[in-house]
Formats: sequence, C-alpha cells, structure tokens
Amino acid sequence: MNKNVKLKDGTEIVLRQLKKKDLNRLTIFFKSLPKEDRKYLRVDVTDKDTVKQIIKSSKSGESVRIIALIKDKIVADGLLEFEKRKWKKHFGEIRVLVSDEYRRKGLGMLITRELYSLAISKNVEEIIIKIMKPQKSAISICRRMGFKQEAVLPGYVKDLEGTKQDLIIMRCNINEMWKELEGYLEDSDWQRTR
Ligand SMILES: CC(C)(COP(=O)(O)OP(=O)(O)OC[C@H]1O[C@@H](n2cnc3c(N)ncnc32)[C@H](O)[C@@H]1OP(=O)(O)O)[C@@H](O)C(=O)NCCC(=O)NCCS
Repeated sequence: MNKNVKLKDGTEIVLRQLKKKDLNRLTIFFKSLPKEDRKYLRVDVTDKDTVKQIIKSSKSGESVRIIALIKDKIVADGLLEFEKRKWKKHFGEIRVLVSDEYRRKGLGMLITRELYSLAISKNVEEIIIKIMKPQKSAISICRRMGFKQEAVLPGYVKDLEGTKQDLIIMRCNINEMWKELEGYLEDSDWQRTR
C-alpha cells in the first residue's frame, strides 16, 4: 500500500514496498549513491544480477524492503531482514540507504519507522544493525534512535575495496526504539505523518 508523507522541508514522498517492476529504478538508485557509501555495503549493488537477487529475496518473505519515491524516482531504501533460525526468531536486522541529495531531511527516520511497524507486526522483539566503523552517519542515527553498541569485531569484514574494517553491532529493544521514534517526532515540527 502506498503512503504519502512529507519531509522536513515539505517535499512530498511516497513510501511503499519494493516490487518486481522496480528493478530499473532500484538499479538507478544504487548507482547514484556516492562511491564512498557503496564501498561499505555487503554486496556490489551496481551489478544488475545482485539487484535482481535483492528483489527476489524481498519477495520470498525472508525480508521486507520499503522504498521512498519522489516522482517515480527512488530516493531511499530500507530493509528489514528476519532471522530464519528459531532460536533467533525474535531478532530482526535493518539497513537503510538514503540518496545523498535527500539526507538530513528526516527520510532515514521515516523509513526506519515503517520498518519498525513491520517488525512489530512480525513479532520481532529486538533490532540489530551491523555497521562498518567508517559509517559515521549511520552510527549517529542509530544512537539517536536508542541503539546501544553491543560489540565491535576488529577487522571482521572487508569493504568492497578489500580493506578490512571493524564491524560494529548495535542493538535495540523494539519498545525502547518506539519511545525514541515517538520522542523524535514530538520534538520535531513535523505534522506530516500523523
Ligand atoms: C544513515 C542515513 C540512512 C541517514 O539518513 P537521513 O535521511 O540523512 O537521516 P535523518 O535525516 O532521518 O536523520 C535523523 C537523525 O540522525 C542523525 N544523523 C543523520 N545523519 C547524520 C550525520 N551525517 N551526522 C550526524 N548525525 C546524523 C541526526 O541526529 C539526525 O537528526 P537531525 O537531522 O535532526 O540532526 C544516510 O546518511 C545514509 O544513507 N548513509 C549511507 C548509508 C549508511 O550508512 N546506511 C546505514 C546502514 S544501516
């Protein structure tokens, strides 16, 4: 279902789940991301087969992707991945990517809030975020939402250029996160999404 919302600066956006027909739009969005941001992603999103795989997995029920569109152009992508194994089924993992042009307008928070609602509906109790150490903006937004740093694994992953990076694991109980998201909306001057 489409949801119309406004960013802090009044820009109108549409939020909806990713569909099969979004292959080209998603490829264009990924390619438009700054190289510095793509470097810290898990896969090379400029590769069309990888993007096809992303769309396929979001249809399989293992994950849900929410995209934000402005006039048919994707400007942000959010992923909620469910844990498959029973002993970790109460955990979900989220990842958010916002187009460079639309950052600091509240879009990251809006997408996260949608993912949060989905997580609640799927009985997820805790959210995990895995970030490479240089992803400073991601660490800031996570702290703002109530995530606490759980662990640092030195040199655990390699970025897409092959350089080893520390992996930071952040964790948040979903009820705590809701408090932070609510607080954020109350503190801000947005009237848009209520
Ligand atoms: C992280 C990211 C998704 C944030 O998206 P965004 O739309 O700019 O975030 P918002 O505008 O909703 O920011 C909400 C709050 O997060 C914090 N924040 C966001 N970006 C920040 C930055 N670069 N530096 C410091 N704080 C930041 C601020 O507290 C901000 O509130 P404010 O603007 O009122 O001060 C975006 O910067 C991005 O796509 N980065 C590259 C990819 C990435 O690292 N993704 C995360 C992987 S999980």
